[in-house]
Amino acid sequence: MCMDKRPATDVFHDWALNGKDEGMEKGHAASVNEMLSFILEQVAKSNQKFSAVDVGCGNGWVVRKLKSNEMCQYAMGIDGAAAMIEKAKKIDSSTDYIHALLPEFHPGRKFDIIHSMEFLYYLEDPESMLKSFHDDWLNDGGWAVIGIDHYAENEDSLSWPDYVGVNMATRSTEQWHNAWVEAGFKNVEHWIAGGESGVTLVFTGQK
Ligand SMILES: C[S@@+](CC[C@H](N)C(=O)[O-])C[C@H]1O[C@@H](n2cnc3c(N)ncnc32)[C@H](O)[C@@H]1O
Repeated sequence: MCMDKRPATDVFHDWALNGKDEGMEKGHAASVNEMLSFILEQVAKSNQKFSAVDVGCGNGWVVRKLKSNEMCQYAMGIDGAAAMIEKAKKIDSSTDYIHALLPEFHPGRKFDIIHSMEFLYYLEDPESMLKSFHDDWLNDGGWAVIGIDHYAENEDSLSWPDYVGVNMATRSTEQWHNAWVEAGFKNVEHWIAGGESGVTLVFTGQK
């Protein structure tokens, strides 16, 4: 890690204290709605109740959306920024929001759905996280649905590490595709989400 960069979780802790998590929620909503639609299509096809985790959940807004679906039997959120988790718990004290750092943390159970928006590239080795999601976090037949806005083809995003002051793992779409396949995922697909001006690169894959 470069010395002039801060841990992402410190930066987002400050964002939560300053209320910037709410702007992020609005900014990510269009892409996340597409990701949730994909998830609910898979749930409808299986016609079974599902469990879900949102990794890098921020203030927990996506966990609450997942939990409100009648087919959802359990949803939890994980984030390494203390103020994000405090905020999530304040909004909804009846849900499991876990303050923990990835990739070290393991939830101690498996899920049918892993959702994650704008988290994965903050890790030094996102490829290992994907493999762990596949091997250790997902039930057989489960889906991972992961959106990122920072990637090689999104040129505007390449200045973000210096602008935000945080290290980011910059990969091309092809590199991400290969990482998903090498992690063991089947039915790997990707699309650009977020409407006409959207830039979110969403990858989905099944165990
Ligand atoms: C860009 S924010 C996105 C938050 C939320 N997914 C949303 O869309 O509003 C990234 C989140 O990932 C969390 N994060 C980044 N690196 C992390 C790590 N190594 N372990 C746990 N959480 C991390 C940050 O604390 C932050 O809340």
